[in-house]
Amino acid sequence: MIDSLDITIQKTENSKLKDFDPSNLKFGHTFSDHMFVADYKDGEWTDLRIIPFDDFSLSPANSALHYGQSIFEGMKAFKNQDGEILLFRPEMNAKRFNNSAERMCMAEVPEELFMNAIKQLLKVDEDWIPDTPGSSMYIRPFMFATDNFLGVRPSETYKFVVINSPSGPYYADPVRVKIETEFTRAAKGGTGSAKTAGNYAGSLYPAQKAKKEGFDQLIWTDGATHNFVEEAGTMNVMFLIDGKLRTTPLTSTILPGVTRDSVLQLAKHWDVPVEEAPVKVDEVIKAAKEGRLQDAFGVGTAATIAHIKEIGYEDQLYTLPDVEKREFSARLRDYLEDVKRGKIEDEHNWITKF
Ligand code: COI
Repeated sequence: MIDSLDITIQKTENSKLKDFDPSNLKFGHTFSDHMFVADYKDGEWTDLRIIPFDDFSLSPANSALHYGQSIFEGMKAFKNQDGEILLFRPEMNAKRFNNSAERMCMAEVPEELFMNAIKQLLKVDEDWIPDTPGSSMYIRPFMFATDNFLGVRPSETYKFVVINSPSGPYYADPVRVKIETEFTRAAKGGTGSAKTAGNYAGSLYPAQKAKKEGFDQLIWTDGATHNFVEEAGTMNVMFLIDGKLRTTPLTSTILPGVTRDSVLQLAKHWDVPVEEAPVKVDEVIKAAKEGRLQDAFGVGTAATIAHIKEIGYEDQLYTLPDVEKREFSARLRDYLEDVKRGKIEDEHNWITKF
């Protein structure tokens, strides 16, 4: 049963469902018929509503536009064979959303409100959940400031919104990444561990430069020395070196990924040695040169497991082992996809079903 809180539902009279083609979905282009919206004022969330997906009207003085108080989450929903809707570890997203809110001085969204908004919206738009291979319902909860004021201070009002995007894979193919040593994504004590809009805005220029050089993505390095690997643009990053799974620990500059946490749990469960400790760029490059870098991949909600096929560093390109032969990351990807789709037993209690 879904607890309904006090969410009013106004269904669209112009459903786009008849024009929806789930067979050829790209990531983030298509949106379902409805959205969830709530407004925060005088210290509480009010006017909880599911309404037709539509534009907002904003004042030119909206403070989020000027100073960037804006956070978001990314999640995926699937349907199992019995037609039930499945979410993967949604409580982790709810917690991370509120950690981001705290860091950005924004209102807290109670976990019950976060979960109910998502569940009820999915129920209303359940016919939009695609079941074609590789596709999913990508869920985008977000919050932004709504005070109309040009002084720099935390807003007193906010909008919490959830939209759904039936989507295909974020990366259809293995990626070529560049280890970035000029620009920095996040500095110690900054906002790197929050899922806030500005982190992504700041990444665009370096990513665009890398794209012109033929790369799909960046691997960020630490802002102080550029000697240590941090994360990739839209995901955390992991390496299998000499049989050991290596990834950087969670610090103030790293986004605590749900997929990251799940992969580390799985690796431990499968008796793969894991080391969560700073990863030196030199070590990765040396291992790549010596053929000891067995696997490298990004892990994230949108990407799930994104294989890295080539790494660029200081004008050199290092080719990694054939993606087809990488057993560990293929096992991870298959396991995660199957558990999320309800095709295998949920032995880690990760699935919320309704
Ligand atoms: C996700 O993996 O859900 C993300 O939020 C990455 C996104 C920027 C596409």
